[in-house]
Amino acid sequence: MAALTLADCADLFGVEEASLSAEIRNIFASHDWEYEPVSDERLDGIVINLLERVRDGNFNRVENEDKSRWVKGWGENLEDFNASADVAALIPKYMRPDMPIRLFGRFVATRASNFEQNWFEVFSSWFFSTYLRSFDHIFEFGCGSGINLANLAKRFPDKQIIGLDWAEPAVAIAEGLRTKCGMKVRGEQFDFFHPDYGLEIPPNSAILTVGAIEQTGTNFGPFLDFIMAKKPAGCFHIEPMVEWYNKDNIVDYTAVRAHDFRNFLRGYSGAIDRLEQEGKARVIKRKRAFLGSIAMEGYSQLLWAPTP
Ligand SMILES: C[S@@+](CC[C@H](N)C(=O)[O-])C[C@H]1O[C@@H](n2cnc3c(N)ncnc32)[C@H](O)[C@@H]1O
Repeated sequence: MAALTLADCADLFGVEEASLSAEIRNIFASHDWEYEPVSDERLDGIVINLLERVRDGNFNRVENEDKSRWVKGWGENLEDFNASADVAALIPKYMRPDMPIRLFGRFVATRASNFEQNWFEVFSSWFFSTYLRSFDHIFEFGCGSGINLANLAKRFPDKQIIGLDWAEPAVAIAEGLRTKCGMKVRGEQFDFFHPDYGLEIPPNSAILTVGAIEQTGTNFGPFLDFIMAKKPAGCFHIEPMVEWYNKDNIVDYTAVRAHDFRNFLRGYSGAIDRLEQEGKARVIKRKRAFLGSIAMEGYSQLLWAPTP
């Protein structure tokens, strides 16, 4: 079996290995990163299965501004959290263990059943400590189960962390992190399609999204207008970017087909590029994830800031 190395990890992050802190090295060292490419036969099976799921409509689709799926899903997490007041109840139930994952444009089978979850632990620890340290307020839009809010609040206990979502149970979890766990977190309802301009974004605020604006399809305009009006000090997106796949690669092609079928985010990175060309924004980083679940690479990095 091959194994993901620390150098691979730095490469996936888009940084030099030497820049990785002792904390990140320790988290990385605590997990099993062994994997092997799937056999040709298994590859055929995965590709056919994904294309058939697209053909048969066997994926959740974003449509009609319907939040019911999220209200139900986060409602289950809220119930567990209310019963236990334990942040372990916040792990989203959609990361599927024991499935092949995407790695460097290939499907691979991993020895650890929760390889992707482990990777997200290293990735998010690195991402938050690298990019969000200098801000006073962190707004996570589409905060969902609240797992990132809890991790941010633990890492940065003095910062104000704000969790926003259109699903009421997600807002309730964010509030619960303050009232039950004593974290400096608050929750507010917010809809990407109908932004509340009454929401104050104070100076030195960061906007964070993690697999959230993916849910706006091509209707990200209202949220982008909101960002441009509020001019946060930085915008940090961890999202699937469909334009960054290589459509000539069969593994990537299945992600593109699934992404398009699901009506996930399309056109956002181009919109930011245009803002940059017009002098209205500065792009800090674009980095394709090259790691993800069976159906997509959800962790591409687009970092930018509106020009003040
Ligand atoms: C895939 S989940 C990601 C949750 C969280 N960021 C995480 O990393 O676990 C997508 C989130 O976006 C939220 N969402 C989807 N459409 C939204 C909208 N129009 N306005 C606000 N939130 C929305 C959902 O309720 C859900 O919490």
